[in-house]
Amino acid sequence: IAVDPFDLVVFGATGDLAYRKLIPALFHRHRDGQIPDVSRIIGCSRRPMTDEAYRKATEDALKKFVPADEREPELVASFLERIFYVAVDATAEKSGWPDLVKVLKEGKDRVRAFYLAVSPDLFGVICEGIGAHGLITPQTRVIIEKPIGKSLESAMALSDTVGKVFKESQIYRIDHYLGKETVQNLMALRFANALFEPLWNAAHIDHVQITVAESVGVESRAGYYDTAGALRDMVQNHILQLLCLVAMEPPSQFEADAMRDEKLKVLRSLKPIVDGMAEQVTVRGQYRAGASAGGPVPGYLEELGRNDSHTETFVSIKAEIENWRWAGVPFYIRTGKRLPSRISEIVVSFKSIPHSIFGASAGSLASNQLVMRLQPDEGVRLWLMIKDPGPGGMRLRHVPLDMSFAQTFKTRSPEAYERLIMDVIRGNATLFMRRDEVEAAWRWIDPILDAWSTSREAPKSYTAGTWGPSAAIALIERDGRTWHEEM
Ligand code: BG6
Repeated sequence: IAVDPFDLVVFGATGDLAYRKLIPALFHRHRDGQIPDVSRIIGCSRRPMTDEAYRKATEDALKKFVPADEREPELVASFLERIFYVAVDATAEKSGWPDLVKVLKEGKDRVRAFYLAVSPDLFGVICEGIGAHGLITPQTRVIIEKPIGKSLESAMALSDTVGKVFKESQIYRIDHYLGKETVQNLMALRFANALFEPLWNAAHIDHVQITVAESVGVESRAGYYDTAGALRDMVQNHILQLLCLVAMEPPSQFEADAMRDEKLKVLRSLKPIVDGMAEQVTVRGQYRAGASAGGPVPGYLEELGRNDSHTETFVSIKAEIENWRWAGVPFYIRTGKRLPSRISEIVVSFKSIPHSIFGASAGSLASNQLVMRLQPDEGVRLWLMIKDPGPGGMRLRHVPLDMSFAQTFKTRSPEAYERLIMDVIRGNATLFMRRDEVEAAWRWIDPILDAWSTSREAPKSYTAGTWGPSAAIALIERDGRTWHEEM
């Protein structure tokens, strides 16, 4: 279904996020006929460039990031007709704002969205420019990306800055994990089926694991990454959001504030990691040289070009939620760069049966697990014990009831940004974070960062291409459990 006509202004239009994610996402929405003809995508950045030159750059990005069989020439041509460019240097006196004002005059009544695909240092000055030049109409929204701050304090300052110009209801804080198909499916699984919710609590669930593993290193982003680290880059946002969706109470509706209220309660119930606990329940690591599928790879410090960084490229945490539903159920989290493969999954492990009637000859009984695979092969698996076929007596086996999205639906699975950008145009904030959520997440993260920064211990080293430091394995095995491995 087509959305309302819009003008989407992308600041940072010549940056990596725009070329790699936003342009391909918008192209796919165009390809599916969702973008009305009069809509425009207006690229803005400092560099002077004509519309033509930016169209050429857009075409190059499509060639690079959209598979050839999805790039029908007539659709590429009609997409490029929607692309415009205005040079705006928000920090300079001769800024280019009047040019943007002129271009936007034409679309006064359309939905207007400003996507700030730039460093957060520029959010303030760009928002001020937008406000000062009278560019905010009743239908205007602003989209911001993480990192939203480096700590609670800086996140609050950033929200104050953006909040001077935009109302909270106009601010869309993107966490692209919320746009992933399986993540939304988690909502469907939990709240559109009668099967799981009665068991979804401490009486029946033993523990939950959330793994977001990447095989890549820090690539060209070492400069940013070294100021962030895995805890800020992945846990504060993506992983805590996943944890919230697993743990929250059923909201009364699938609607922005109902969802965010429930997520906020989970974040506020996270047991603070304070008073020396960080040493016991967190593990941070940094990769050294090793190997990936493509051959030998350098260590983090070599990629960074410095040898004094304590930035973590891996983190594992045993988190706990202090409420009635989850008391005593650990949530084990792990994420890292240069792990053996790109795998993201949520594993809900149910408790063992109270008593086996089958005796030792049936083999050992494993407990039920619900595995939601976010990537690479999206799907859901429910691991059950069943009888091995054959006449040889009662031997039992752990087997998955398997639902692969690719096989079941045989359609292309949309990228997170496709869904999220269209949601902004529709004015649907359900999959975006509210200010109080971001702050509650920082409130839990800050003490861990503090503990690490005062600790004399450096992050534990792990070989690139392995599952992180052995301490991360010990973290879960100490509790008599193991990381789920089913590659
Ligand atoms: C980003 C992080 O938010 O998410 C990156 O900054 C990370 O470091 C990326 O690589 C992972 O996203 P995805 O969608 O590839 O799992």
